[in-house]
Amino acid sequence: MFEHIQAAPADPILGLNDAFRNETNPNKINLGVGVFKDENGATPILKAVKQAEERLVANEKTKSYLSIEGTEAYRAAVQTLLLGADHEIIAKQRAHTAQTPGGTGALRVAAEFIKKHMPDATVWVSNPTWANHQSIFQSVGLEVGSYAYYDAASKSLDFEAMLASLSQVPAGDVVLFHGCCHNPTGIDPTTSQWQQLAKLCSKQGFLPLFDFAYQGFGVGLDEDAQGLRTFLQQVPEMLIANSFSKNFGLYNERVGAITAVCETAEQAEAVFSQVKRCIRTNYSNPPAHGAAVVTEVLTDPQLRSLWEMELQAMRTRIHEMRGLFVATLRAKGVEQDFSFISQQQGMFSFSGLTPEHVAQLKQEYGIYIVGSGRINVAGMTKDNMEPLCDAIAAVLKG
Ligand code: LMR
Repeated sequence: MFEHIQAAPADPILGLNDAFRNETNPNKINLGVGVFKDENGATPILKAVKQAEERLVANEKTKSYLSIEGTEAYRAAVQTLLLGADHEIIAKQRAHTAQTPGGTGALRVAAEFIKKHMPDATVWVSNPTWANHQSIFQSVGLEVGSYAYYDAASKSLDFEAMLASLSQVPAGDVVLFHGCCHNPTGIDPTTSQWQQLAKLCSKQGFLPLFDFAYQGFGVGLDEDAQGLRTFLQQVPEMLIANSFSKNFGLYNERVGAITAVCETAEQAEAVFSQVKRCIRTNYSNPPAHGAAVVTEVLTDPQLRSLWEMELQAMRTRIHEMRGLFVATLRAKGVEQDFSFISQQQGMFSFSGLTPEHVAQLKQEYGIYIVGSGRINVAGMTKDNMEPLCDAIAAVLKG
């Protein structure tokens, strides 16, 4: 029965993690998967999360099923975080949110929903984009296209080309935007560019799908939401897939949400009933623990302010590592200008290292970077900075 099945290639990001585990180089450094590390190279449980968990364990009374969409309290807390308190979309009940297993689960639900109700839509993703985006949409049978985003020569957003690409997208297609901290480039549109994109979206009539996995890792919780909030001033409909893996450090609890914003409360009801059908036939209903933690933290003032402080500390550490990385490379005599890395947002940086550099770093130094040259800056520490920059300087010299 199974004789004809060929082995699948390793996943470009999670496969690298598996290989890193087996790496025998004692000085190995993992800058592959997007996971935050503290200055000791550990991925700690946030204090706010730990305290919330203690309360939950003490008070938990049942392990019975959640509803298909998750708890009311979680769904409301997510909407407030995404849109801001008192947003008129919330007041008018134009948005419905369902809890999902992580941001990937949210994207999968979105993909199934799009395939079922907009089967001829092409989903447009940025070039480049997160390595899993295309597969998620293709796996439900959707066409995937790409729009211009990154200019490798100037290591910046090619906004003119982006506008030109998106001007070709017809009404009824779907365009995926990274809400903030673009993965893999770390380069986001500015406020005025978001406004132009929203205007274009309204003119063209495509559906925006925001992948929002890094809220709070760029500038701040509200600042990072400005892209999607700007869109919502101009367009009546949107899908949002958000994740709490990074900003709560809840990677292995798989906590995320899919939010559908519609023109009217009535439409939102209908759309949401279909989203729920996609969930029911996929994983039936979500796991409880991670979402309960997020709800507890977001709705308790003391835990909320502790979490915001911890989030700010993560953000600040990444910014510091960006600066230190650029300065250390310069101090090592690297001639290429890496100062663009200080301007980028979030965990990732598109380093400009070639696949050959990436392979050499892995083979000779045990340094793991995604094949595209994407570096997880959050994996850098003061301790690994010197050997890291020595190795990069060596491979760049050739
Ligand atoms: C990443 O891009 O490294 C993360 O989003 C983890 C993943 O699932 O790929």
